[in-house]
Amino acid sequence: MWNSTKATRLLDIEYPILQGPFGGGLSSVALVTTVSKAGGLGGFGAYTLNPQEIYEIDKQINAATGKSYNLNLWVSDTDAVDGKVTDEQYQQAEQTFQRYFEEVGIPFPEKPAPFRSRFENQLQVVLDIRPKVFSFMFGLLPADVLEQFRKAGVKTAGAATTLDEAIALENSGVDMIIASGFEAGGHRPSFLASAEASTTGTFVLLQLIREKVKTPVIAAGGIANGRGIAAALTLGADAVQIGTAFLATDESNALPIHKQMLFSDAARYTMLSRAFTGRLGRGLTSRIGRELAGKEGHLPFPLQTTLMSSLRKAALDQQKWDMILFWGGQIAPVVKHKKAGQLMQSLIDETNQYFNDLKA
Ligand SMILES: Cc1cc2nc3c(=O)[nH]c(=O)nc-3n(C[C@H](O)[C@H](O)[C@H](O)COP(=O)(O)O)c2cc1C
Repeated sequence: MWNSTKATRLLDIEYPILQGPFGGGLSSVALVTTVSKAGGLGGFGAYTLNPQEIYEIDKQINAATGKSYNLNLWVSDTDAVDGKVTDEQYQQAEQTFQRYFEEVGIPFPEKPAPFRSRFENQLQVVLDIRPKVFSFMFGLLPADVLEQFRKAGVKTAGAATTLDEAIALENSGVDMIIASGFEAGGHRPSFLASAEASTTGTFVLLQLIREKVKTPVIAAGGIANGRGIAAALTLGADAVQIGTAFLATDESNALPIHKQMLFSDAARYTMLSRAFTGRLGRGLTSRIGRELAGKEGHLPFPLQTTLMSSLRKAALDQQKWDMILFWGGQIAPVVKHKKAGQLMQSLIDETNQYFNDLKA
């Protein structure tokens, strides 16, 4: 049976289908529990949450379903040296972005306060609550931390955008590797070379990793239906991770306009941009993204997000959609379902159908 793989046995789930975690407030308990109840693995992105909020989310998910789920953090959550913005960076950002603030009629923000990494505290909570699965991106975890997870019975998965990163993750001792192709929506989780220099597509990356690495691989990026799942499994994936298609469902925490955009013709065009957060991420092509393509002048992550927050709010209030980056992957135009349960069922049915037709 196609749905029995190394990953499903390791994770004790029925189908090798993971709902990609979304950081920045876009995950929801409803989405996680719907996917986990349907036999997949729901994922909750928690990198912006404080420890208390993570405890609370875990409680809510456990109360709604006794099923496994995946909690996700970012190993590296800032690019700012000492968490600070320098005067020079601030002036450059002002030069680059001030005109957009003028356009929506609001003042250019003060220099953002220094950012303190939250990862160490968050990690402690994960070790405490012991979700069935802990996935992470933007780096490696030290061997002693992975050992603690192993002892606690938590399975780990790290994201790779290149073969080198997959080999580094395998050497570190993770249980699974997420092959994150550049088609995917959201941030590019590169950690050895720059994200701009790590733009391999999912199906090439998957095959490169499969040749050199023994750790089970989860294909992520550009998969949104049964044919995509069948293709990934055929190329050697042990599971798939689907983001954009789940982001578009009613159950996700994305704004209604975000979901509307994902189902519109605007979703035909996506781009990678650093202009909105300071790190490279894929969303629907927007005017600011286009105008600033390849240009410097943004603050280091996540202080660029802080800088842009009032602009984003004003643009939303004024319905200036072309000034916002709505996260989404290249596969968005293929996405059909608005209910996460229906999406799961159709993913399962289509994959069943595909493999049955092959046998017939
Ligand atoms: C809005 C958005 C936020 C995301 N946030 C995270 C995150 O915090 N951590 C993570 O590991 N992956 C994150 N991802 C990646 C997804 O979990 C998933 O791997 C990816 O979306 C799969 O590609 P697809 O969008 O083509 O389906 C995010 C993706 C999107 C679209």
